[in-house]
Amino acid sequence: MTRLAGKVAFVTGGASGLGEAIVRRFVAEGASVVIADIDVAGGMALVAELGGAASFQQLDVTDEPSWLAGLAAVAGGRIDILVNNAGITTVGSIESLSLADFRTMLDIDLVGVFLGCKHAVPLMRSHGGSIINMSSMCGLRAQPDLVGYNAAKAAVTHLTRSAALHYAAQGYGIRCNSVHPGAIHTPILDKVMAQVDDPRALYDGWVSVHPVGRLGRPEEIAAMAVYLASDEASFTTGAAFAVDGGSSL
Ligand SMILES: NC(=O)c1ccc[n+]([C@@H]2O[C@H](COP(=O)([O-])OP(=O)(O)OC[C@H]3O[C@@H](n4cnc5c(N)ncnc54)[C@H](O)[C@@H]3O)[C@@H](O)[C@H]2O)c1
Repeated sequence: MTRLAGKVAFVTGGASGLGEAIVRRFVAEGASVVIADIDVAGGMALVAELGGAASFQQLDVTDEPSWLAGLAAVAGGRIDILVNNAGITTVGSIESLSLADFRTMLDIDLVGVFLGCKHAVPLMRSHGGSIINMSSMCGLRAQPDLVGYNAAKAAVTHLTRSAALHYAAQGYGIRCNSVHPGAIHTPILDKVMAQVDDPRALYDGWVSVHPVGRLGRPEEIAAMAVYLASDEASFTTGAAFAVDGGSSL
């Protein structure tokens, strides 16, 4: 059974990690998927592997003209699913994180989500759809060494609620929910481990905050994305879904 048959999805950060897993699962569930990413080589390689159900759009989520051009290029001028997934993590506390790094993280992790939620509306409002914003367990709980990431991801949680209320009030039939993964071993974790002196201790620390005793797998986040993207979630909007092995409890 294909749960997304006939639907068109637009996935930012779809060339790697969680976005890649979501793209693969959406295609398996019958959707046509636009992979929107700054990583041209990675995105094109995935398209070549997945064949006609996937296409690539070069897009920088921080850049409004890039969004407008990327969405204007969607065949048929309509989408059913938007996954605002692109993101970065820069380690730093309130004392150590530079203003420049704070601003860059807010730009990608928060402004990128704002622009997606804003500019997808004309491609969705006539028929409804589902917007999935990738927050994090760090959007529910704070950590001392992730001040910028915590701030951006917590803001995504509340932006999601505000957008969901607006779409509902307008009668667009657009649902908007946030997903909060625990630590999942993707390239983003390798990039975080490269920023610290003792990556092994950091990795073990991540495992220890998950009551289930392990990190998550990208497929476990993709499974939640399929549910939220599908018509099975037709009464679900403005909600925050932790997929985190219990780490936010
Ligand atoms: N992996 C985890 O443990 C974890 C946990 C919680 C939340 N998340 C969130 O999930 C999302 C995906 O993370 P991931 O682990 O797959 O990371 P990743 O580094 O594997 O992939 C991120 C993707 O985003 C793209 N990207 C980065 N900046 C971009 C920009 N300006 N415009 C367009 N694309 C851009 C990258 O090219 C890459 O393809 C992020 O928002 C991240 O914060 C990840």
